[in-house]
Amino acid sequence: TGAQVPVGIDRMAWYTPNHFLDLDDLARARDVDPDKYRTGIGQRRMAVPTLDQDIVAMGANAAQRLLDGVDTRRIGLLIMATESGIDQSKASALFVQEILGLGHDMRAIEIKEACYGGTAGLQIAADYVRVHPGRTALVIAADIARYGLRSGGEVTQGAGAVAMLVARSPRLMRLEPESVCRSMSVGDFWRPNYATEAMAKGKYSEQVYLRMVDDIWHASKGRGLTREEGLAALLFHIPFTKMGRKGLRSLETQLDPDVYARLTRRFEAAIVYGRDVGNIYTGSLYLSLISLLANDPTLGEGNRIGLFSYGSGAVAELFFGVLQPGFRSVLDAEGDRVLLEGRQRLSLEGYETIFSRSLVTDGSTQVLEQGDPHAPHRLVRLERHERV
Ligand code: HMG
Repeated sequence: TGAQVPVGIDRMAWYTPNHFLDLDDLARARDVDPDKYRTGIGQRRMAVPTLDQDIVAMGANAAQRLLDGVDTRRIGLLIMATESGIDQSKASALFVQEILGLGHDMRAIEIKEACYGGTAGLQIAADYVRVHPGRTALVIAADIARYGLRSGGEVTQGAGAVAMLVARSPRLMRLEPESVCRSMSVGDFWRPNYATEAMAKGKYSEQVYLRMVDDIWHASKGRGLTREEGLAALLFHIPFTKMGRKGLRSLETQLDPDVYARLTRRFEAAIVYGRDVGNIYTGSLYLSLISLLANDPTLGEGNRIGLFSYGSGAVAELFFGVLQPGFRSVLDAEGDRVLLEGRQRLSLEGYETIFSRSLVTDGSTQVLEQGDPHAPHRLVRLERHERV
């Protein structure tokens, strides 16, 4: 049956803009103890995107990193998962398709459900690949987290994209077909179309997240899916690293101490990248997976990983994957290092200036400054409301 065909992530790559704000600088400017950001929130730096690195550019930049040697004619589905959409009608996937020079014999769509969108995209892609022999799917999760200057969520902003090629007999991680989902209308975090910044009931959103962890873990355990004795790592959606840590801690009393110690050790490797990038919404869980694989040399073929995906509003899912032989050869840890270490540190004024820039809305031509000289793709200008 379709469920028995091994499908999963064949390749993964990511991108983040090349400017960051050190959160010690933000703490000083906001008159906050830096330890609150470093340990209370668990973040060190946050990515700050210039206007030319919107979700289309970032998504294309992430995907570009994994396309070398890929037969793009086999891609039959291109999904952009984002909650930072640039158009009410046209899917951002179509811009990405054009920029990357992909063929036209494919479905190209955009998916939205807050940070869960990346997982929705991945699962839909896996189902697609299961029933379409010879086809692959490209899933891109790209977002910009903006809460506003001096807002409660300011320290949890970020920007970036993760791209995943989904295929049969994947080289990186096979996905188990069974998972547990929960969906329920909740007002914990939202982004009305007229607003340029996200709105959140911060503490309430943390409660909903943790309730979902609890509920889904129990349901998964009841269905025999957790099998925690053999679980090598458990990843979480990371809006800020402390949130994932709280998710894991909430399971401590239910886990054997050795298992909990192992999951805690691996959690540290899984937050190395996110701690320096910030929330990238749809891509956060997947950046955590890349971080884990790049920063934990003890993981090996056959190791089973749990992934808890959460999107405000709210939808959550716990699913599992198994690392495939040679999974390290399809990663690019050196490229990741260049991406992170090549970034420019902004002053607080630099951050506030970039943050306060906006696209013109009257249709006049706007030429955008180039933020990242190394990024292959960017938004160059707007002309009569059209993108170049
Ligand atoms: P806050 O007002 O800064 O919270 O808001 P706080 O004052 O309680 O401080 C945060 C933590 O720092 C606390 O620890 C303090 O004790 C600690 P906790 O009780 O949480 O363990 N602290 C210190 N630690 C060390 N030294 C100190 C110190 N001072 C305080 N000196 C909040 C924090 C996360 C609520 C805010 O940043 C916010 O609203 N963020 C945005 C919403 C969010 O990220 N929610 C997460 C769950 S929802 C989600 O994940 C979905 C999302 O990604 C969106 C989507 O799905 O699209 C957001």
